[in-house]
Amino acid sequence: MRVLTGIQPSGTLHIGNYFGAMKPMIDMMNNTDNEIFCFIADYHALTSIRDPKQLRENITNTILDWVACGLDPDKITFYVQSDIPEVQELAWLLHTICPMGLLERGVAYRDKVENGVNAHSGLFNYPVLMAADILMVQADIVPVGKDQKQHIEIARDLAIKFNYEYGELFTLPEGKIEKSLATLPGIDGRKMSKSYKNTIPLFAEESVIKKQIMSIVTSSLGVDEKKDPDSCNVFALYKVFASEEEQATLAKKYTDGGMGYGEAKKILLEKVIKYFTPMWEKRKELIHQPDLIKNIRKSGVEKVRPFAQKVINQAKEKVGIL
Ligand code: ADP
Ligand code: TRP
Repeated sequence: MRVLTGIQPSGTLHIGNYFGAMKPMIDMMNNTDNEIFCFIADYHALTSIRDPKQLRENITNTILDWVACGLDPDKITFYVQSDIPEVQELAWLLHTICPMGLLERGVAYRDKVENGVNAHSGLFNYPVLMAADILMVQADIVPVGKDQKQHIEIARDLAIKFNYEYGELFTLPEGKIEKSLATLPGIDGRKMSKSYKNTIPLFAEESVIKKQIMSIVTSSLGVDEKKDPDSCNVFALYKVFASEEEQATLAKKYTDGGMGYGEAKKILLEKVIKYFTPMWEKRKELIHQPDLIKNIRKSGVEKVRPFAQKVINQAKEKVGIL
């Protein structure tokens, strides 16, 4: 089976992204016989980033962050969307068979417009480009969050339509919705998200991480009072780093009383530092490898383009352009 994941290079990663998206993907890479394709969706990011310097930096940083966290470009096929121009060619072929109604029912587009995002046709047509990403590499499985489910259905509909109109070519992709993954709370207790500015960054100076952890919102119970771990944001974050035994030990300190929230935060901070230090160190090393990004991109192109060229040529032949 071929599994495909796309990552938007849309900003600084936080520990919610790590546990919700990066770690599951890296674990899968290490424990599967499936063929994994993973790419940086830079053309998609253009629908929200208008600053060229920022986009360029985000692309490089996203590659470095993922590799520092354990993604191994030798074990999987890792590439940048814009390095495979055939994706854009395929997107156009799909546009010409895509019924307007399919996009007009798009929830993500409507949501964004309702939230005051300026509508442009890139945003409206976003799912067609995503379908091209998926169909280009003949992906069988696409693991995504709930919010992306409709996009996979659109990709599948377009594959069915193309195959019906022009003859069998595309594999019908299936979405794999990861629902069991915990949603990490941010420092204010809402879902950790860059749009809420409540994140604990994944790669930052220790002092920045400390400041964020120390400002996690807690109840106002005093040191001696008994506390409930299950309703505490500090404990919710601690859980993803700690073994069951460690969780039980800290939970007991909550329920016994005698531990202030400041102390709980220090325990969490220590854990966070210990957990991420190897990745911080690896990232520092990666920065000093001048050709790293170039080589990763080159190897991605070598792995994907011959395949993409074959598929696009077949598609062009079917529609009558070749
Ligand atoms: P953000 O909400 O910060 O903008 P994205 O929407 O870009 O994050 O999400 C990128 C990936 O990280 C997605 O797979 C998403 O499910 C995951 N993710 C984001 N925030 C969290 C969180 N708080 N807990 C768990 N996973 C998260
Ligand atoms: N739309 C996805 C997101 O915002 C990113 C993405 C683009 C993607 N193309 C894809 C994901 C193809 C999976 C497959 O998270």
